[in-house]
Amino acid sequence: MAPRKIIIDTDPGQDDAVAILLALASPDEIDLLGITAVAGNVPLALTQKNARIVCELAGRRDVAVFAGCDRPLNRPLVTAEHVHGKTGLDGPTLPDPTMTLQDQHGVDFIIDTLRREPAGTVTLCALGPLTNLATALTRAPEIAEKIAEIILMGGAYFEVGNITPTAEFNIYVDPDAAKIVFQSGVPLVVMPLDVTHKALVTPARTAAFRDIATPVGDAVAEMTDFFERFDKEKYGSEGAPLHDPCVTAYLIQPDLFRGRHINVEIETTSELTMGMTVADWWGITDRPKNALFIGDIDAGGFFDLLTTRLARL
Ligand code: BDR
Ligand code: CA
Repeated sequence: MAPRKIIIDTDPGQDDAVAILLALASPDEIDLLGITAVAGNVPLALTQKNARIVCELAGRRDVAVFAGCDRPLNRPLVTAEHVHGKTGLDGPTLPDPTMTLQDQHGVDFIIDTLRREPAGTVTLCALGPLTNLATALTRAPEIAEKIAEIILMGGAYFEVGNITPTAEFNIYVDPDAAKIVFQSGVPLVVMPLDVTHKALVTPARTAAFRDIATPVGDAVAEMTDFFERFDKEKYGSEGAPLHDPCVTAYLIQPDLFRGRHINVEIETTSELTMGMTVADWWGITDRPKNALFIGDIDAGGFFDLLTTRLARL
């Protein structure tokens, strides 16, 4: 089968970085058309720079990286330096990028690509707040029917929240954008905390990254070492969840994941539960099913895939 054409929309972030590296390591399955950065874990000036740092780490200066929206649609930006460090990519010491940022705005790149490519051939992979995707869908509503699928990391049902008691970070940062995406009618695959909290980077899994013994393996081990500190303390778990690579792993090996087609709505009015993903996991309502909401992962298979693929870079 021909590799799937994708655009990665991202706010790197160490786990975003690993997700991008996995895509770059998998050219048989993934044809990366470009990366669009969005404000999220850290401000846009850092996320677009970090995206280029990651491409250069993989020896892929040819990847087109675009800067997108620098703030959520209607709310002030909330960032997560407490998890990812002040650069967003704290851990390894990596050189500043020398590859240039594209002049075109990330949202325009998404719109132009979808208008140009045949319908149903481009998949959008969202690893951060959904501002760029929602802006593209609002500005050019006709692209909705051309998108093959949106695969996104965001939300939670059983695990409820990580940035507030009831909301996951990516959805909380821009709930209005999330609402637009979830109501777009585009087929959605959602990787919520319910699944990413089962993809834990244990010390043995970090050691496996380090044992690759390449600059990429070392950098990934240093990244996971860094952001683990916060989550291990918070959850008292053996390791931190590696959220965003679930999205790119799904493209390569979907049988690692299990979920249900359900209705998911986004809370955008209550400050108390802002950004909550109201997921009808038990089929209590007759609201239309709009998402494949993933709940389970073969974590061993997932980390085997990651380690094997990252070793190719
Ligand atoms: C999500 O928020 C960010 O901190 C991570 O990169 C991930 O996309 C997890 O809630
Ligand atoms: Ca992210």
